[in-house]
Amino acid sequence: SGRFTYDPGFVSTAACESKITYIDGGAGVLLHGGYPIEQLAEHSDYLEVCYLLLNGELPTPEEKDKFVNIVKNHTMVHEQMNHFFNGFRRDAHPMAIMVACVGALSAFYHDSLDIDNAHHREVCAYRLVAKMPTIAAMCYKYSIGQPFQYPRNDLSYAENFLHMMFGTPCAEYKPSPVLAKAMDKIFLLHADHEQNASTSTVRLAGSSGANPFACIASGIAALWGPAHGGANEAVLTMLEEIGDESKIEEFVARAKDPNDSFRLMGFGHRVYRNFDPRAKVMKKTCDEVLHELGIDDDPLLKIAKRLEQIALEDEYFVQRKLYPNVDFYSGIILKAIGIPTTMFTVIFALSRTIGWISHWNEFHSSPNKIGRPRQLYTGPSKRDYPE
Ligand code: CMC
Repeated sequence: SGRFTYDPGFVSTAACESKITYIDGGAGVLLHGGYPIEQLAEHSDYLEVCYLLLNGELPTPEEKDKFVNIVKNHTMVHEQMNHFFNGFRRDAHPMAIMVACVGALSAFYHDSLDIDNAHHREVCAYRLVAKMPTIAAMCYKYSIGQPFQYPRNDLSYAENFLHMMFGTPCAEYKPSPVLAKAMDKIFLLHADHEQNASTSTVRLAGSSGANPFACIASGIAALWGPAHGGANEAVLTMLEEIGDESKIEEFVARAKDPNDSFRLMGFGHRVYRNFDPRAKVMKKTCDEVLHELGIDDDPLLKIAKRLEQIALEDEYFVQRKLYPNVDFYSGIILKAIGIPTTMFTVIFALSRTIGWISHWNEFHSSPNKIGRPRQLYTGPSKRDYPE
């Protein structure tokens, strides 16, 4: 009708103002609160970045201690939550359980659901950051038939997650510092990425005044697809399917074929038309982890590196400015840590929760409107019901 700007996929429409994250896709720049992601990955840690995203500034050492302690106070989930798990098949995809359990948190915290109360909003953020690792690890334990492990507050955030994933009542699990650091880096590199599909979903759900736990559940649903957070799982499946360096060309040819829907998973990005800066850090971390574990010659890593090289030299990918994204190497690290493929997107969800809740909080901290996109109607014009 011409009355509205038509922008399918929101390629050029800004839906909000935000102070949290800046991306220059052409230059491959990502800043949180002004700080480059490379510097945060090198000098900071996940919980410090959580504080930064939520508050706009890095914490002082005292503020950081206080924040870490508050998060630790909230790591357990209500015992009633355990019953939810029994309702699922053991072979349920952990993302399916995650959507349900996180939405269900809204049934437990009636005392702090006033979205116009800044303190309530903060407490919801603490609860979510603290409980996501617990719920994620419970999804895994349930799938393999092992008892849930209670969180341990004497461990760091990443160590505690690995303890809940791999510890048992019979044997303590203590990850090496390199593995714990790599886990923390994966959390940190996924913490926020401005108005991606899942964050926009959380903001839109939040704009109606829905409670934050329900909003985060909607973000998890949006993240699940292979074009978004599901890509890390899809990359590993693809590398396994390729199986041998000799088969790479065949898969690259398929990715270029306009009649084949296959895409190189972990390649391309709506915003980056250059290297995804997170992918560079991820590649380095991947090398460190595999070296630490003495598996530098991992066949999947070899295939990934060769595939990257071939694609980066190929006219098709060069012309379209398709580079490896954050998820190209994350799966190999997760696999090396011992995390099963079906948990990859759950880990993305866990990491991104702080981004989602920070955007939700920012939305409610300033004057706002319900999100209500318009459409160009293309259906039939008015007609009479056949008599
Ligand atoms: N393999 C082969 N061709 C591709 C790929 C790919 N991975 N990505 C884009 N293209 C082609 C696409 O076919 C199109 O070609 P043409 O102009 O000839 O029609 C052109 O490049 C532009 O693609 P588009 O689909 O218009 O780009 P988009 O901005 O809508 O999509 C994307 C971005 C990330 C969905 C897409 O690149 C993709 O599907 N990548 C694979 C999945 C993936 O790795 N997703 C994770 C993204 S990073 C983590 C996150 O934030 O979620």
